[in-house]
Amino acid sequence: MQNGSPENRWFHLCMADDLASPNAFVTTRVGVVPLVAQNIKGRVVAFRNVCTHRFAVIHGEPAGCGPLRCPYHGWSFDADGVPVGLPFNPTDFQLEAEGRRRLALHPASLARCGRLVFIRVAADGPSLEEELGAALFARLAALSETFPRRGDALEPAEDWEHIKVANLRLHLSPDGVLVLHSAAPPGADQCFSRAITLYPATADAELPA
Ligand code: FES
Repeated sequence: MQNGSPENRWFHLCMADDLASPNAFVTTRVGVVPLVAQNIKGRVVAFRNVCTHRFAVIHGEPAGCGPLRCPYHGWSFDADGVPVGLPFNPTDFQLEAEGRRRLALHPASLARCGRLVFIRVAADGPSLEEELGAALFARLAALSETFPRRGDALEPAEDWEHIKVANLRLHLSPDGVLVLHSAAPPGADQCFSRAITLYPATADAELPA
């Protein structure tokens, strides 16, 4: 992978709230690489969203709630990406512990900035804070803590404002509608573009062009 390539960049994925429940998951794609962030028994982890058995995509939806289980032969994976549930293993796969570890999912990188979750294909590289710069990282983290939870009807704070970070645009319109828009990463289908209206919870808002 080249430095500066999409695989080495952080992309905003979702709010931390979206991954707070057991089995909650959010997917995206960077170029040809499908990614998933998933809550597994309280741990939020990220992998390539590709089964290591026959390379099927594991979660086909942009987001949802369900175990990290491949739809084809039913392998399920633990928080380290190791296949732990293999139907018909004694007859069909005959994988012992070491063989399963060798078939662990490929890890991806996950980072939090306040309540915002970012993901990266590359498992190694600069931290999100290093990529954004310490000042912007701190400002965005603090700002995100003032966002309302979805469904809450809170008055917007005065320091909500236009902000652009990676693929994330945050916009507060003059009439007080707060929208968080995450563009699909390069090469990804538009179904991985997200626009979350944080306030008011029921507003049907679009960002200005
Ligand atoms: S392709 Fe995933 S379990 Fe077989």
